[in-house]
Amino acid sequence: MAHDASVAAVILAAGLGKRMKSSKPKVAFEICGWPMVRHVAEACLGAGVSRIVVVVGHGREAVESALSGIPGVTFALQTEQRGTGDAVKCALPALDGFHGTVLVLCGDVPLVRPDTLTHLLDEHRRRSAACTVLSVILDDGAAYGRILRDDVGRFVAIREAKDAKPQELDVCEINSGLYAFDAAALRSALPELRAQNAQGEYYLTDAAEILLARGLGVDALPRGTEDEVLGVNTFAELAEAARRMRARIVAEHMANGVEVTDPSTTFIDRGASIGRGTKVLPCSVIERDVAVGEGCEVGPFARLRPGTVLEDGAEIGNFVETKKARVGRRTKAKHLTYLGDAEIGAETNIGCGTITANYDGTRKHVTRIGSRVHVGSGTVLVAPVTVGDGATTGAGAVVTAGRDVRPGATVVGVPAREIVRQAAKEGAR
Ligand code: UD1
Ligand code: MG
Repeated sequence: MAHDASVAAVILAAGLGKRMKSSKPKVAFEICGWPMVRHVAEACLGAGVSRIVVVVGHGREAVESALSGIPGVTFALQTEQRGTGDAVKCALPALDGFHGTVLVLCGDVPLVRPDTLTHLLDEHRRRSAACTVLSVILDDGAAYGRILRDDVGRFVAIREAKDAKPQELDVCEINSGLYAFDAAALRSALPELRAQNAQGEYYLTDAAEILLARGLGVDALPRGTEDEVLGVNTFAELAEAARRMRARIVAEHMANGVEVTDPSTTFIDRGASIGRGTKVLPCSVIERDVAVGEGCEVGPFARLRPGTVLEDGAEIGNFVETKKARVGRRTKAKHLTYLGDAEIGAETNIGCGTITANYDGTRKHVTRIGSRVHVGSGTVLVAPVTVGDGATTGAGAVVTAGRDVRPGATVVGVPAREIVRQAAKEGAR
């Protein structure tokens, strides 16, 4: 997406999330491999918005580390949580001198899509509006703010559920919490907010009414989907948001040519790539920072952890776990295996029950296995160790650290020792 310098985003993420009963800030909880707030920031990047101010307060270190490494993100501190309007006010110094459109998002609404942001921005610009609110039509407006309109459908105000009259609660167009503001209009409206409401907070939503009263263009755009407004306040909602995100991710991979036999039991994180013609069987987990090539087979019951790379045609079967492992072309590990901190060549067969013992109690070490190696069932490879191309390990062999296996050699036993195979001896006679 082309970078759009005329837009800056403000993500509100200073709240604690009391209902999770955790000291960890709500927006740092993960959905499909990323902290919630990162999904929101990535949606901004996806819409071409790369200047992002995140308002932090509770557990700011955790929120800042959840976003580390994302270019263009800066942080603004809200010391006391006095409402969404106050939170945006805290972000303004970071946008000093900025004259474009300010997109406001919530860090606890993780399912927002880049396309929706682009659409909101386009409409906001087309109308030369001061404020455009993304709204959604729901069967039940629940605890969301209601969009109030006059008899002819013109926008009037946003009313918080806690402040609403009974007939206002019947309104089913709700505020998503996503807005596009003209920067100057936003800056001028915030000092006018008053905390005279049921919650004693400075509501950002009141800025819409303030701008409207000045005769400026303000409207709600009912273009959001139910998914996109799903706010996460409880662990039940976290699980529901993850379920929906998962379905979306799996659908994207299937559309790109990945065969997924059972989407409902397939867990693919954001930040995993999978090539065409790959088949993912049920109950498999593919975590973030995993790259699966083309024509691979994964599962059933496989777990690919971060740092796994499967080259084209590799197969990882049931009850196999990989971590920081590069698995070469057409190499197979089909059953009951752990491959951690490993580099494996092409066309190697990793027998059932193979373990790379990568941890010596203090440090992790690397196991290297060459191409066309035959690793016998139940082999333990104690890292650091290298098994050369074309070598064989016998069933149950324990190849100890530093006792590298020469290319073409066969080792057996505990600890593993090289043997000369009968056929080789006879050939030599
Ligand atoms: C807000 C909207 C409501 C909308 C809903 C959509 C207001 C007054 N109401 O309500 O109309 O339907 O979102 O989800 O804006 N935050 C801060 N600092 C604060 C307060 C909040 O950073 O002082 C952050 C929270 O961490 C959260 C976001 O702002 O990420 C929204 O705050 P929250 O208290 O959840 O607002 P809602 O009551 O959900
Ligand atoms: Mg909320």
